[in-house]
Amino acid sequence: MRAILRFRAGLVYPRPRMSSDALTSHLTESRRFEPSPEFRARARVKSLDEYQRLYRESLDDPRAFWERETSDLVFRTRATSTCDGAPPHARWFTGATLNLTESCLDRHLATSDRHKAAIIWEGEPEAGGRPVETRTVTYGELHREVVALAGALRALGVTKGDRVILDLGLVPEAAIAMLACARIGAVHGVVFGGFAVEALRDRINDCGAKVVITQDGAFRRGNVVPMKATVDRALEEAKSVEKVIVLPRLGAAHAPIALQPGRDLLWSDALALDPRGGAAPEIVDAEHPLFILYTSGSTGKPKGVLHTTAGYLAGAHVSTRYAFDLRPEDLFWCTADIGWVTGHSYVVYGPLSNGATVLMYEGAPNAPDPGRFWRIIERHGVTVLYTAPTAIRAFMRWGDQHPSACDLSSLRLLGSVGEPINPEAWVWYHTVIGKGRCPIVDTWWQTETGTIMMVTLPGATFGKPGSTGLPFFGVEPDIWRADGSSAAPNEGGKLVLKRHHPSMLRTIWGDDERYQKTYYSEFSGTYFTGDGARRDEDGYYWVLGRIDDVLNIAGHRVGTAEIESAVVGHPAVAECAAVGRPDELKGQALVVFVTLKLGHDAGPSMRESILEQVSRDIGKFARPDEVRFADALPKTRSGKIMRRFLKDIAAGRSATGDASTLEDLTVLAKLSANEE
Ligand code: PRX
Repeated sequence: MRAILRFRAGLVYPRPRMSSDALTSHLTESRRFEPSPEFRARARVKSLDEYQRLYRESLDDPRAFWERETSDLVFRTRATSTCDGAPPHARWFTGATLNLTESCLDRHLATSDRHKAAIIWEGEPEAGGRPVETRTVTYGELHREVVALAGALRALGVTKGDRVILDLGLVPEAAIAMLACARIGAVHGVVFGGFAVEALRDRINDCGAKVVITQDGAFRRGNVVPMKATVDRALEEAKSVEKVIVLPRLGAAHAPIALQPGRDLLWSDALALDPRGGAAPEIVDAEHPLFILYTSGSTGKPKGVLHTTAGYLAGAHVSTRYAFDLRPEDLFWCTADIGWVTGHSYVVYGPLSNGATVLMYEGAPNAPDPGRFWRIIERHGVTVLYTAPTAIRAFMRWGDQHPSACDLSSLRLLGSVGEPINPEAWVWYHTVIGKGRCPIVDTWWQTETGTIMMVTLPGATFGKPGSTGLPFFGVEPDIWRADGSSAAPNEGGKLVLKRHHPSMLRTIWGDDERYQKTYYSEFSGTYFTGDGARRDEDGYYWVLGRIDDVLNIAGHRVGTAEIESAVVGHPAVAECAAVGRPDELKGQALVVFVTLKLGHDAGPSMRESILEQVSRDIGKFARPDEVRFADALPKTRSGKIMRRFLKDIAAGRSATGDASTLEDLTVLAKLSANEE
């Protein structure tokens, strides 16, 4: 079965067609974009040969590779071996002890970097084309703040291994809080600020957090998003939390912050508890847990992906340096929110361990107008921009006049992450933003891999719009057929990583069985990514999309099961199924099919109340794009909903394919006839 989906704007954006055991790719993109000779001449890796040499070394002699590439990091004792054991429970850098913040902070204090900007921050509110607030935090200042907050956490009784939930927006304090946890060996769990009460509560309970760090509210597209109030409600049913530290962000014009006596304290009061109390870092083992980050899986319960210290640091450090060809004078802007893994690895840990300057912008790309990103680049002289295809497509739609009004000549490198980038968006990014001058690094990775696993390495390789390039150092991907044999060039299959990498997740918090089952059971002992992909005749990888019940909406993974459990929580809903359909802007849009209990009427107010239910339970970002009411859903005789038919219907295609296991054939006809 073959299909190419055409979008309204005339873009051709192919989506994989998936049957039970095969994937067919329809992308035929043969353009190649070479880096300029000037870029290549200055690049860290200057040729494909040089890349191949380093890559071979990383596989054949991982010890030599990782020792050399991490030699600038601070270890109290060096590792005695590089990798021990086998996946799913391999361990890295055995014998090493460290505190990761010494690599991100202390080591820079001994050099002139002490006075270098670690973070240049802009708040969202703007007046007359200028930000109302900007802040520059030097490495010296960042160290001081981290030491003080670490002292506060210690004074509040947080010790090594305790969990701290961070519900913060894009403010420098988010980085400070992450580093302060790491400073004392506590495990941070950053929860995306857009999550609703239930989602936040479940995450706090899952990890049994002792402390929550939040802010009163955040500015978002000119509105205020309440955060402390959400935390308060979540804590009504999350009893492990003893203390809440609150950062006042909104200012005096907004409602005063309600503090619960004995539990809540303001950021400034916390910092005063013991300002030098974090000076001595907790020295931990290489495999000590660093953070938990929740991500969507194919069952309703979010997975607490656990990353550990030395391996994660090594991956973040080395990938930032090479993938972005980082230089000391760069101003590096990764636009991701701190609540996603990209914000962890490429706003905080990777850049700071390399002594880079990061730009952090609090708000939305179109606040107060669609020119905001480009003004930021011009104002600060951003040199590397790392963003997501969904944002790029929004910029395209908003029009070239916005970037064209700004001087973007400081840019030298562009990056993309989060989903396959469609060639039209790639070429637009390259032409309109990069002026044909900046290589585009397409980076494939996951919350689980922690850091970049595949990349169109700038300088060394050419770009092919839509391809994520070649494996990063230490990574050995392959495309497997269902029987575990390697697919031929250009044959679609399942993307696996055959070798353990230092920054891979170690387990799912509190559920090692689910960890093994999710990642290592499809192919016993080999990591299965959940993605379909193909590899072309140049060895370039093309990711075709998720093959599990996980959608990628605007670069965020959303588990259909999680959406479904929110929808069936609605008192009028009998059954539902959530599926994705291609969307020009978001990559995928979320469609829910709903059958109501008897006696309830489908209509606009029912639709709105179902949408509200999802916003309330999960967050606005997961609000379905469409609700379709149906008398019945297509099911197998054993009662399993047949989503592939619903996907066809949602996409406006006729539902074809094998319907022999369908219980009631008339259901499909009715659903198709119901189209809006
Ligand atoms: O399907 C792949 C897609 O995003 C998934 C990982 O999502 P998440 O854990 O939320 O992490 C996003 C940021 C790293 C992958 O399984 N994906 C991510 N980057 C790319 C991509 N698909 C194609 N090309 C990419 N560059």
